Amino acid sequence: MHDLREHGLGKYRQIDDAPYGGMGGMVLRPEPLAACLDAITADGDTPDEVIFLTPDGETLDQPMANRLSLLKRIVLIAGHYKGIDQRIRDAYVTREVSVGDYVLSGGELPALTLIDALVRILPGALGDSQSALSDSFQDGLLDAPAYTRPASWRGLDVPDVLRSGDHGAILEWREAQRLQKTRQRRPDLLGADPEAGSESAAPTGEESSQTA
Ligand code: ADE
Repeated sequence: MHDLREHGLGKYRQIDDAPYGGMGGMVLRPEPLAACLDAITADGDTPDEVIFLTPDGETLDQPMANRLSLLKRIVLIAGHYKGIDQRIRDAYVTREVSVGDYVLSGGELPALTLIDALVRILPGALGDSQSALSDSFQDGLLDAPAYTRPASWRGLDVPDVLRSGDHGAILEWREAQRLQKTRQRRPDLLGADPEAGSESAAPTGEESSQTA
């Protein structure tokens, strides 16, 4: 983390100012941000990406997280106030990323969201190296339901197939559940019209063996 104030201007270490042309809020000035970015890269290790978190950006999804996780060095800029001076975006920023179509009060939580999405897929980040790859979205489908002990709870039973020890059948059941859940909740992931909603999503043709 780098404190912009260390590069602030004047006695009060000013980092922001009122926007030209009116409108409310404050805009981060270019000089402190540029000085901070220059100091970060002064070691000569040029970042692969300088990412500005903003609702204007390309929406973060799993394929983007996968691609970014392969890079060696990423600098994230978390704006606050009304944003950052456009000239920094033009001169330094290589990619603009949004975490969704809603506005937060700053880029700090989006930056943490992006970091978490990337770091958890790095080798060794998760105990079970398989689990990041079998996540929802990793192959464009939502995840299958998960069960643990007890086998029966409040009259609700774990599907027999999961206790059968038949790994082939379990795999098949999971795939069918994933497809069914994706059709119901996120038909857009299957290339269907998201406006159509789950009611009019294509019938699954598969019986759910879920009992809970
Ligand atoms: N800053 C404020 N809202 C944001 C969002 N939705 N995504 C990324 N950065 C933001």
